[in-house]
Amino acid sequence: MPQNENPELSSPACWAHEADDAYMGYASRDELLAFLNELLEAERAGSRVTLRTAAEVSDAGTKALIEAVQRDEAHWCGVLMKAIQTLNGEASKRTGAFYEKAMAIPGLPERLAFLNRGQGWVVRKLREMLPRIRDDRIHHELAEMLAAHERNIALVEGRSV
Ligand SMILES: [Fe+2]
Repeated sequence: MPQNENPELSSPACWAHEADDAYMGYASRDELLAFLNELLEAERAGSRVTLRTAAEVSDAGTKALIEAVQRDEAHWCGVLMKAIQTLNGEASKRTGAFYEKAMAIPGLPERLAFLNRGQGWVVRKLREMLPRIRDDRIHHELAEMLAAHERNIALVEGRSV
């Protein structure tokens, strides 16, 4: 072997991981980044909708419930941004179209039903993607995000207004 040929650089170990990911059905880095950014935009929309809706509501119990959902939505925004950072990606600064659509609904029960449909969309997206995420930490965090969304959907469905 010539002196300048570095066996490390030609070793399959340098690139096999990424190739294996796609081969085994795991999401590629680009696909995962696009997914995380799509969720980030949705959670940002959810966070803004619940922030404004909580401010409009006078019933203390309903306000507390919507504020709790708002804290969660803001929390998941942070988690998603951190996950994007760990993949050296760029976090989207956009807010999902869900925000405008939800705020165009004047009635509280109808807007909360729409919020829950949006949360249901997040649940479906997470269920689809979770088996395809190889990164243990991101997988764990998104599994928690899924469980928290299922809990909040049930709480909003069961509210007493
Ligand atoms: Fe959400």
